[in-house]
Amino acid sequence: MSPPEHFVVEYAINPWMDTTTPVDTELAVKQWEGLRETLTRLGHTVHVLTPEIGLPDMVYAANGAFSVDGVVYGARFRYPQRMAEAAAHKRFYAELGWKYATPVETNEGEGDFTYLPSYLGGVVLAGHGFRTEAAAHSEAQEALGRPVISLRLVDPRFYHLDVALAPLDDSTIAYYPEAFSESTRAVLRQLFPDAVIADEEDALAFGLNLVSDGRNVVLNTEATAFAAKLRSAGYVPVPVELTELKKGGGSVKCCVAELRP
Ligand code: ARG
Repeated sequence: MSPPEHFVVEYAINPWMDTTTPVDTELAVKQWEGLRETLTRLGHTVHVLTPEIGLPDMVYAANGAFSVDGVVYGARFRYPQRMAEAAAHKRFYAELGWKYATPVETNEGEGDFTYLPSYLGGVVLAGHGFRTEAAAHSEAQEALGRPVISLRLVDPRFYHLDVALAPLDDSTIAYYPEAFSESTRAVLRQLFPDAVIADEEDALAFGLNLVSDGRNVVLNTEATAFAAKLRSAGYVPVPVELTELKKGGGSVKCCVAELRP
């Protein structure tokens, strides 16, 4: 995670960003601390990446890379405003001593890649359509040696996979079908008949932008209806308030790059 000390909305690269909306950076940091404390309380170890001046979106740490089994597939950001973030993440993994594959193809890390360790022995789900190029999916498969299932996003409000689909445990997902193309919806129905289905309201409340440990699901406070769905599916919703970071087009999951050693 990387604290939003320099967070502002001074450019707009997704439909949520409005450069005329004032951002309370201090409140953003406070809310981010709340998320970090929640994750720590749930037993997670949180590493902190030093935020850099001039990189206001660095708080969305999920976009910096994607790792599986201690191997890192690096990010290559779509927009010039965020490009320099990748190097900071690369340095972080170098310090951990993890193998790092430098990408040629445009991809935004865990924003568009997620992993289900117990599904068919471990599969990657990958989004494309707005940020990550489909070509990055095969590049990731070669880098990581895991099958990658390619999913096409079609609604610009849900421009990253992690705002449209989320792993709830090692083999179960939740998703908002309308964020995906007709054919991708058929693929998801075939592969995940038992998925928790989110509706538009759930997705707009950033309910799917969650972090789950398989039982506790940390998600945006505004996603109350989705939290109720999760509870009836047997999970324990843990709401966290992140109103300021929503102004940049992100919530819980965007702030967290999961390390898979
Ligand atoms: N403002 C950032 C962007 O548009 C938000 C990124 C959100 N991150 C995420 N993993 N969905 O790039």
